[in-house]
Amino acid sequence: MINFVIDINGEVVGSVSFSKIKEYKAELGYWLAEKYWNKGIITEAVKLATKFGFKKLKLKRIYIPTFSFNKASMRVTEKNDYKLEGVLRKNVKKDNKFIDEYIFAKIK
Ligand SMILES: CC(C)(COP(=O)(O)OP(=O)(O)OC[C@H]1O[C@@H](n2cnc3c(N)ncnc32)[C@H](O)[C@@H]1OP(=O)(O)O)[C@@H](O)C(=O)NCCC(=O)NCCS
Repeated sequence: MINFVIDINGEVVGSVSFSKIKEYKAELGYWLAEKYWNKGIITEAVKLATKFGFKKLKLKRIYIPTFSFNKASMRVTEKNDYKLEGVLRKNVKKDNKFIDEYIFAKIK
């Protein structure tokens, strides 16, 4: 796993991480403290991480799974030119509810 933290004035307020790293592909995930939402921070962080993944890790495929209701996360993928590849219906069970998972990916 490769984890980048987002530091604002010495405080960790979020992160962007590569997980499930295989030879040529990896999953990208992220979170940010709520008080900093909707300022473009994760869009920029994903942009930098994507560049790092393709250039330094030499990945060919980076994918981002998002829950169907997570419109902000989907918008982040869209703004970074990740493409929707498919929907895994009821792929996740959370709090006794079944959630569709949307898979976005970017390839090089
Ligand atoms: C998802 C998350 C990382 C986004 O971070 P962020 O820094 O606020 O994202 P950005 O500001 O770069 O972009 C958010 C975009 O979503 C849009 N957005 C926010 N809430 C929205 C909603 N309910 N419906 C539609 N769009 C929405 C914003 O307007 C913005 O788009 P715009 O630039 O076109 O206006 C943050 O909300 C978070 O940490 N959520 C909890 C953890 C999480 O969901 N992680 C992702 C798991 S896949």
